[in-house]
Amino acid sequence: MADGYPLRLVPSPSEPAGPALPSEGLQLALRAAFGRPCQVTASGRDALARILTYLRLQASDEVWIDTTTCARYLAISPCVTATVSKFCRFAHGPGSRTAAVLVIHDWGVPNPRLPSLKDYCRARGLPLIEDAAHAFASVDAVGRRMGTVGDFALFSLPKFFPIRQGGLAIGLSSRESSSEPAVQEAERALAGWLPRWQEIAAARRERWHTLDAAVREVGLESALRLPRGVAPSLYLLRTPRQFATITGLRQAGIETGPDQYTGTVFLPCHQQVRSEDMARIVAAVSEAAGS
Ligand SMILES: Cc1ncc(COP(=O)(O)O)c(C=O)c1O
Repeated sequence: MADGYPLRLVPSPSEPAGPALPSEGLQLALRAAFGRPCQVTASGRDALARILTYLRLQASDEVWIDTTTCARYLAISPCVTATVSKFCRFAHGPGSRTAAVLVIHDWGVPNPRLPSLKDYCRARGLPLIEDAAHAFASVDAVGRRMGTVGDFALFSLPKFFPIRQGGLAIGLSSRESSSEPAVQEAERALAGWLPRWQEIAAARRERWHTLDAAVREVGLESALRLPRGVAPSLYLLRTPRQFATITGLRQAGIETGPDQYTGTVFLPCHQQVRSEDMARIVAAVSEAAGS
């Protein structure tokens, strides 16, 4: 996601107002949330690479990638496909070389095929990895927190918290404190922000619904439903005027995408979006819709 816009798709890093968790408290809180040991990593990509390293995949193996929106090729985050490609191949369906399944929860919305893919993996003894990079605080229809269903999971912290960098690898045993500066910084920032996760999740849902009401007034809608319990990473606007809308948003200083044709536009709906930002987003969307 590009930098350089006053309003970004992810929150800008900031210091938490409240008290931070003590360092052993951070591991305990993460274990309580995800029910398993977990490693703080330098990024979501780093978390995925650590999981794939642990799995000892061969170059000719395939990772089957499935996403909430059934996205393929260009619409799957290139940082995911590039990371997998450092280890082995990836595919959009099962095959004779399938060695692991990677389930992406697009934009925080639980992948509806997670239960069936879990059964598929269990029947074949394959590892199931949840890419919950965008889904830190999301739970599915039966109340399971995303990241707790697969054998492994990864999160990207800046997509939810106002943190500069960092990720989590769930299912890998926690290590002694890391000497990597990026990990130390992520741990410090997460210890400050983790106690506020529910408040952040509620703020995101509230902004998503405000945007949804406004875009419906101009005859548009979200490409994704927001089920109860889901904390979205962004609002995925469906529009026949994708590129006009993207141009208008960028001119208004709002980070957006994607640059390839999908018939959708990313709108920020994180906790730092203020009412005046919301007005600018809605004005750009309405103008493009009417033009
Ligand atoms: C679905 C998905 N997984 C993983 C990542 C990697 O996260 P990070 O940017 O923290 O490396 C991203 C980043 O955009 C992503 O969109």
